[in-house]
Order: sequence, then C-alpha cells, then structure tokens
Amino acid sequence: MCGIVGGSGKIDFRNYLLSGLKKLEYRGYDSAGLAYCLDGEIKLHKTAGRVESLAAIVPDFSGASAGIAHTRWATHGHPTAKNAHPHVSNQGLFTIVHNGVIENFRFLKQQLTVRGFHFDTDTDTEVIANVLERFYIRSGNVIEAMRQTMENLEGSYALGILFSKEPGRLYFMKKSSPLLLGASNEGTYLASDPVPLIGYSEKFVDLNDGDYGFLEGTEIHLFHDGKALTPTFIKKEADQFTNDLNGYPHYMLKEIEEIPSVLATLRDNYFDGGDFLFDKNLIELLKKTNKVHFLACGTSYYASKMGVKAFRTIGKEAYVSIASEWGYDPYDADPGSVYFLLSQSGETADLIRCQRVLQDRGAITVAITNTKGSTIDRKSTYSCLLYAGLEVAVASTKTYVAQACLVAMLCAAISGFHDIMYDIDSFIGAVRGVIAKKEDIHELARGCTKVKNAFFLGRGVDYISALEGSLKLKEIAYVHAEAYPGGELKHGPLALIEKGVLVVGVVTKPEIAASLRANFEEVKARGGHLLVFASDLVKEPGDAFVCEPIKPFYATMALVVALQYLSYYLALEKGLSIDKPRNLAKSVTVE
Ligand code: AGP
Repeated sequence: MCGIVGGSGKIDFRNYLLSGLKKLEYRGYDSAGLAYCLDGEIKLHKTAGRVESLAAIVPDFSGASAGIAHTRWATHGHPTAKNAHPHVSNQGLFTIVHNGVIENFRFLKQQLTVRGFHFDTDTDTEVIANVLERFYIRSGNVIEAMRQTMENLEGSYALGILFSKEPGRLYFMKKSSPLLLGASNEGTYLASDPVPLIGYSEKFVDLNDGDYGFLEGTEIHLFHDGKALTPTFIKKEADQFTNDLNGYPHYMLKEIEEIPSVLATLRDNYFDGGDFLFDKNLIELLKKTNKVHFLACGTSYYASKMGVKAFRTIGKEAYVSIASEWGYDPYDADPGSVYFLLSQSGETADLIRCQRVLQDRGAITVAITNTKGSTIDRKSTYSCLLYAGLEVAVASTKTYVAQACLVAMLCAAISGFHDIMYDIDSFIGAVRGVIAKKEDIHELARGCTKVKNAFFLGRGVDYISALEGSLKLKEIAYVHAEAYPGGELKHGPLALIEKGVLVVGVVTKPEIAASLRANFEEVKARGGHLLVFASDLVKEPGDAFVCEPIKPFYATMALVVALQYLSYYLALEKGLSIDKPRNLAKSVTVE
C-alpha cells in the first residue's frame, strides 16, 4: 500500500510534501519520511508514526530543488524509523520512495549480497535502490539503469527516485501501483493519487504500467520500452477530491450522515423521472445475459452479495466470489457471463488481478466504483460510478449502500421497474430516521464497552447485514466478531455463547422472522447479551433498535447504517482511532 508524493522545481516543498502525505494517509500511516535536494545535497528525515511526528522533526528547507515523501503501510519489516522510506542505496547514489511489493526481492537481495552489497533494513524497497545502483554503476546512465531494473523486478511498484549526481531531477517508474504526474508554471509533481496535487496542478498524466522517466523543473520526460513519449494530460475536477470534515469530529460520522444525499444523487444520476440513464448498450447486454458474477473484497464483497440478491430477484443466475480467492483460482470464467467488479477505491490489488484475468479471457467487465479514473474504472468494459464523494474513513459506510442501490437500480432498468424510485425514496427516509435516533445507538454502545467477543446473526439479506455489521465492529472497535446465518448457530457457534458475549440480531423479513427469533431465544437462554436490530414490520417488545417498515432489501441496509453507528460509538467510547484504525489502510493496493 503506502502513499508517495514528490516534485521538482520552485515549489514550497515542506508544505507540499507534508500536506500531500497527510492526504495520502488513507493508504497507510505507520511510519513516514521524506528527502529533498538542497545545495546539491540530499537530506533525509524519517520516523515511526504518522505524518505529524515527521512534521515535528523536519526543519525548514526552502530553496530545495526536488523532493520525495512517503507514508507507509508496512509489508516487509516492522513499522520502525529504520524501515520507513526513503531508502538509500549503498553508495548513496539513489534515494527512493516506493509503493508496492517486490515479489522476488529475496532472490535479488541474494544476488546483490554476493556482489558485496549490504542491507540495513528488512524492506524490499532497499533492494530496488541497490538494483538501480548496480545497473547505474555498469552503464553510467540512469535511464538505462531504470530500464534494466524494471526488467529485473517482479511485483508492483510506483517509485520516486532522487539521484545524488543530478540534484534537481526526480526520477520515477511504475508498474501495477498507481502513479500520476502533474505540472504547473512552478514545477512538476508526482503522487499516488490526485488529491495531493490539487491546488498545485490542474492537469495530470495517468502513467501506464512500464512508464518511467524524470521530472526536472517544469519539464516531464517520459519513456516506455526505451522510447521517449509525449505525455498526455487530462483534467480532473477538484471538487471530486474535496475532503473537509465540515465540523464533524470524524470522517466516519460525516460519511454515515451523508448517506441520504448520496442516495439522492445516485437516484438523480441514473433516473431522470421518466427513464433510466445507464449506458443503453450495457442494459441491452444485461437483458440478454443469463448469468452475472460479482467479484470484490471486504465491504464491497458484502455489497456484491446484495447485488446477487437483486439479480436473482429478476430471474438471473448470479454468483459472487472474493476477489483475492478468485484471482488465483478463476473458475467459472464463462464467456457468456458478465463480471461485476465492485470497489470503492477502484485500486484494490486483489480485484485488479481478477480484472487482468478477465481481460486476458476477453470477458465483459462492469466496474461499480466510487473513483473515476481508477484502474477498475478505466480498464473495465463498462463503468458505473457511485458519485458518493470522497470516502476518507477507512471503514466504508456510504459506499456500501450506494453500491447495493446502484445494482438494484441496474436490475430495475433491466426489468423496467420504475417504481424503484419510490423504494429509494423510502430508503432515504428510513436512513434519516436512523440518523435521528443515533443517540439511542450511542447508549447501546455505552453498554458494550466491556465486550470482547460478538456474534452477528441474520437470515437471507439480513445475514449479509450481519456480515457487514461484524466487519465494522472488528475494524473500528477492535472487538472479535463473527457473523452466522441464524440457522447455523446450533451447528457449533452456540458453544461459545455465554454471559458477556454480545449477539447482534438483524431481522427484517417477515417470512423468516420467526425462525430467527427462535435463534435469539437460544442465545438468551445461554446468557448472551442480545441486541436485536429490527424493521418495524417484524418488531417485538425488547428489540434494541427499530427502523421504518420498508421493503426488507432496503430495511436491512437501514439497519446496517444503525450498525455502522454502533461500531462508531463503541470505538468512540473506547477512545480508538476511528478514521484510521490500527494495521489497516483505506486503499488496499497490495495482494
Ligand atoms: C471496509 O470497511 C474495509 N475497510 C474494506 O473491507 C474494504 O471494503 C475493502 O478493502 C475493499 O475496498 P474497495 O471497495 O476499495 O475495493
């Protein structure tokens, strides 16, 4: 994972690099570092911890001619200052920052060790710096050394590289990790995503795999396969990247409370009151297709499960696979299927692997993503954007409901079900109802601060909500949580139910409410701490939280919003780092 930012020219580097890193912290935040060229010398600062810790040790360095910076999510080696980037080659020729993973780094390290190179860190990145140095010493040419290095590296990388003999230049190379460039009258820039560049550059170059080159002042020199290329600039709207807290204490809370407006925007973007506004070719294709297959990870995987339910409701065969599994075992790559790739970020490495497999097989892919211009968006046959606005908190909230509703709208477009607009409107109303009662959920969370283990139960769509609720509790509130279909409880997990164990039940479907209620009784009989989240349609005295009586497909998602609050408030009560939970990152760009 990790985020990188860099530039060359007459730039206020301290401000640019540190504020850029802050904006990239969603990609990892366990250590940080930067390097810059000042008066012909390269200076380096790095530390364990977040960007604030780095800012505290970095002096003023106005007058620098180039700089690179890095915020890390540890893959190889502990999150210590030693392992923080930038990393420097043995003779100090190359100082580099890296996002990605080098799969053959052990082999390369061995080769270099035999040639007398030594290593001070546990990282794969230090190996890249020394491979570069080795090839530079042989050829005396950095561009040639980069080309040879790329030939030898297996894995993914976006690299910013300072070369001690050419202090104003910033070299770069990219494969399978995102990297883009920007330019202004003051200088040239690179970063893992556009956000750090907003305010510095209005035009961007989205680099392709295999691109490399250097930035020098206001000039971009781009190469691919040994040939010089002219960079192609595109514009990106700055408001797509706005991420103010707007007075909220946390992004997670803000993003939960944006859900009604996100749903309204989605509805208006894909339905004009008379007709659906999806790509007509996509709808015609889906009408003819009998089988769809969803691929995704984490919360997007659970949203995909909702998508499967929606497609089955209109009579299509629908399946879902976890991307990290399917990418290595791509069964059911049926040429007649349409593959849906769901991803908030559009940069999840496990899903990009699936996309490559599908591309190689000539399969049709449909991206459902929040991130315009992301790999999943750009490289899919069709793309439907969520328009949910930037999601900053590591925990996905608004994009979960947006993904599921977008798929439901697609199904409505296929089957000509215009009344879905009433469903979406009543769903918006139900979410507002949940928001209005958030303090009740806060109170429930106060009663859970001692909980160490939790089980989430549901049946049908409510089982999907149980899965998503349990993921939220794990990642934000650090409570060990598992989700089960209600009927599975007595096949094993019931053995773990005792006093103090939290059991959250989700129930919205009248036809399965009775059997789920029976499972809840089994929990109560064993002393479990039961909290039932129910739709008004199936409520019973003693339920912990009740949402409006809308259709189960939507009611269960309104209850997911309530469960998002439960995790949020529990994390708040425990004083945890809500937007940046330990060990996680927003965008998972390594496999
Ligand atoms: C969600 O709360 C998680 N942080 C995580 O599971 C996430 O949904 C997953 O990594 C997939 O990300 P994507 O939607 O950007 O592909």
